[in-house]
Amino acid sequence: MNTTARTDAHASDLASRFEETFGAAPDGVWAAPGRVNLIGEHTDYNEGFVLPFAIDKRATTAIRPRGDSTIRLLSTAGAEGIVAADTAALVPGAVTGWAKYPLGVVWALQQRGIDVPGFDLLLHSDVPPGAGLSSSHAIECAVVTALNELTGAGLTAEEMVTLTQHAENAFVGAPTGIMDQSASLRGAGGHAVFLDCRDQTVQLVPFEAQDTGLVLLVIDTKVAHSHSDGGYASRRASCELGAAALGVKALRDVAVADLEAAGGRLDPVTFRRVRHIVTENDRVLQVVDTLRSQGPARIGPLLDASHASMRDDFEISCPELDLAVDTARSHGAIGARMTGGGFGGSAIALTPVGREQQVRDAVVRAFTQAGFTSPDIFTVTPAAGAERIR
Ligand code: GLA
Repeated sequence: MNTTARTDAHASDLASRFEETFGAAPDGVWAAPGRVNLIGEHTDYNEGFVLPFAIDKRATTAIRPRGDSTIRLLSTAGAEGIVAADTAALVPGAVTGWAKYPLGVVWALQQRGIDVPGFDLLLHSDVPPGAGLSSSHAIECAVVTALNELTGAGLTAEEMVTLTQHAENAFVGAPTGIMDQSASLRGAGGHAVFLDCRDQTVQLVPFEAQDTGLVLLVIDTKVAHSHSDGGYASRRASCELGAAALGVKALRDVAVADLEAAGGRLDPVTFRRVRHIVTENDRVLQVVDTLRSQGPARIGPLLDASHASMRDDFEISCPELDLAVDTARSHGAIGARMTGGGFGGSAIALTPVGREQQVRDAVVRAFTQAGFTSPDIFTVTPAAGAERIR
C-alpha cells in the first residue's frame, strides 16, 4: 500500500471508530506530525535558529462540532475513557492527562476572541509519548488545524504556531518555544524546516538522507522527561540572565566572536549556558550551508559538536543519551546527538544504510550492559506538515 492509500485507510478507520463511539460521522479528520530536531537546541526561545523536520509519525483527530458547549474527548490509547469538559469552564493549569493539549488549544482560541463550539473528538497517535518527539505538539497542531477550519477563524500557520505556544505556556504550563509547532505546522516531505525564531521566516532545506545512502535513526532512551519540570525553565532563566547581563535583547544577538569578552562579564555557569546557545546558533547556520552545498553526508561533525555542547555547557543530557550517542558513533554513525529539550527522550544518529543494523545491535547491547531499560530504535524521514486527510 502506498502512503496515500495508507493515509486514506487510516482516516476512514478512525472515522468509523468515531461514528461507533459518538453515534454520528465526524465532519473531518486532521493529522499533524511529531518532529525531530536535526540541530538548534534551546535556541528557539533565544530568538535564534533551528532546523527540525516533521516526521512520518503523527497525531490524527476526527472531530464533529456539537450543538452545545460540551467537549468530549477520547484517545484510542487511553485507559482514561471519555473526558468531558465545557467550553465555558476551561481553567489554565487545572487539566491533567492528554486532554490538556486539545483543551489548551480551545482556551487559546477563546483568548483570541474566537468562539469555539462544543465538539466530539477521537484521537489516534503513533508519535511515541515521552520520547522527545513532540507528541503533545502533534496533538495541539492537529486540533488547531481542525478548529481553525471548523470555526472559520482563518489563522495563518504563523498565527497557529503562536497560538499553540500560548496554549502550551499558559494552559499546560510548559515554558517552551516555537520550534515544535513550526515543524509540525510548516513541515514538508523531503525537507527540514530552517526557522528563524526571531521573525518566524522559514526556508525549506532538502534533507533526503536516504538518497545519499544514509538513514536517520531515532534512539528512544525511554528516560521520561517533562518540560513542565524545573530543568527546562531553569535553562531558559539562565539564558535570559545572560542576555540581560550582556545588554542584548536575546542571545541571538551575541556572536561567537563576542564570547571571549562575555566570559569576563558572566558567572561561570551562565557563561557556559550562553556559550552553548551562541555556538549552537552558529552550528545551525553551518549545517544549513553544508546541506545545501555538500549534502547530509558532511554534517556529522556538527551534530557531534552540538551534543558535546549540550552535555558539557548546557548540561541537559543524561547517561542514557550519552551512551546512545557514543555507541552509535563508535559503531558507524557519522554524527549523533540528543534531540529535543533534553533530560531524557531521544537521540538521533545519522548512519550509513550498511551500518544501520550494526549500530542498532551495539546500542541495545550497551544499554543491556549498563543496566538501562532497552531503547526503541527506528528510522524517521521528513514528512508533510499538518493537514486535513478526510
Ligand atoms: C522542547 C521545546 C522547544 C525547544 C526544545 C529545545 O522541544 O518544546 O520549544 O525549546 O525543547 O530545543
